[in-house]
Amino acid sequence: MAVAIEVSEESPQAVACDALVVGAHSTTEGGFDLVAPGPAVDEATEGHLRGYLTSAGFKAKLGEVVILPSFGHLVAQAIAVTGLGPAGTAGASEVRRAAGAAARHLSGRAVVASTLHSAVEGNGAAAAAEGYLLGSYRFTAYKSRAGDHKLERVLFLGSGAEAIERGVAYASATALARDLINEPGSALTPELLAERAVELAAGANLDCTIWDVAEMSERGFGGILGVGRGSANPPRFIQVHYKPPSAAVKLAIIGKGVTFDTGGLSLKDARNMEEMKTDMSGAAAVLGAMSVVDQLGLAAEVMAFIPATENMPGPTAIKPGDVIAHYGGTTSEVLNTDAEGRLILADALAFASQQKPAAMVDLATLTGSIMLALGRKCSGLFATDDALAQELIAAGEAAGERYWRMPLFDDYNKELESETADIKNIGTRYGGSIFAALFLKKFVPEGVPWAHLDIAGTARNETTTDEVPKGGTGVGTRTLLEWISSRAGA
Ligand code: BES
Ligand code: MN
Ligand code: ZN
Repeated sequence: MAVAIEVSEESPQAVACDALVVGAHSTTEGGFDLVAPGPAVDEATEGHLRGYLTSAGFKAKLGEVVILPSFGHLVAQAIAVTGLGPAGTAGASEVRRAAGAAARHLSGRAVVASTLHSAVEGNGAAAAAEGYLLGSYRFTAYKSRAGDHKLERVLFLGSGAEAIERGVAYASATALARDLINEPGSALTPELLAERAVELAAGANLDCTIWDVAEMSERGFGGILGVGRGSANPPRFIQVHYKPPSAAVKLAIIGKGVTFDTGGLSLKDARNMEEMKTDMSGAAAVLGAMSVVDQLGLAAEVMAFIPATENMPGPTAIKPGDVIAHYGGTTSEVLNTDAEGRLILADALAFASQQKPAAMVDLATLTGSIMLALGRKCSGLFATDDALAQELIAAGEAAGERYWRMPLFDDYNKELESETADIKNIGTRYGGSIFAALFLKKFVPEGVPWAHLDIAGTARNETTTDEVPKGGTGVGTRTLLEWISSRAGA
């Protein structure tokens, strides 16, 4: 990642930089309060800082940024005041978002000094580092000219900066996920995704095994093979394994890796189909998280599984009404080839369960209906285990990612009964994300605590917000890392 985060012992008044970032809380009276060392910085400007902010109508709303020249009162060329919202609610998430907003406003300056991390105790520095790095993320692989992004270094002033390294690791994991998601579908086929997994595993001290069509056929992975059948780019099954000697627990994470979802013969509308390159966001989050587990020294064995395939129409494509046999033998009737995510995850979940993990979490851009239910700023969470659900919600809170628990109503299973096979792959029109989750649940045996994160709404950002630029968000990456850390007892 281009931007370097460093610690500096300089004072805010004396630090040499293009801009000094100071936080502020909003007040109930509609004004603002500068967060330390803001008042000292204001003093150095002889009160001009406060005076200017007041006259400019600054309210310290979360993500609000005002930049003004220092007029020689400080060594810093400019002062950037960043809103954190009300003092009572300002935590790590707010610091992350404020730092993300600051990073974008200051992208034209090379060296920035920041005091934002000191606004919250404990993990403020990790959150601020994530914010600066993720807010300045750009996908420029296909740009002839990279643009005018100049930010090179962010100096964190003073104490409390110990957690920077963790923040940098979380951000680089998220950026890796975003890079994978933002690649066009034809540039990241299942085979190329598998290659990327092999590369990152080699660089991160992990084992990686890739199964091709022949190897999946031998084992009866009918779901992945069925969905992949219509494509010229054959499917892969990607396995990445992290097993430190210190491991106290064994976990499994699974990510939907549909590198492009046309819907298959149940073809999608042309409108917005380009967004379906995002349909491997679950896989991206899993690979992003795996890329730093060793670096973070997490004391848990983690097995990652990614069913990777395209979903294409074509002369050999799976047809509506076809029946496929999944890993383990359960058969499903494919009534809609666009409900392909559950078909490939079925194989992966059944296979992962056999490894007897203490808990298993899958991430998938699974249903449009989760967007109707929860909007674009919250992912759906389904779980067979209350403790696991709570852990993931807490991990999400720490990561700045929101989840809302959805039901797995037993009686809804009736809608998945098939006349021909053991189960059909769609339910009735309403409650689509619940039917998808119930379908997956059939492939998870009793005794394996399992959670499913439906990230269809959150995997892509339509407009740049705070630390999340437009495009692939990398959602789930940091939640996974927080959750693995908590299970590892870190
Ligand atoms: N990949 C889609 C879900 C999706 C939709 C993700 C929009 C991101 C944005 C998934 O494979 C799909 O097509 N689901 C169908 C299921 C339906 C046919 C039962 C859907 O949600 O419409
Ligand atoms: Mn689909
Ligand atoms: Zn899909």
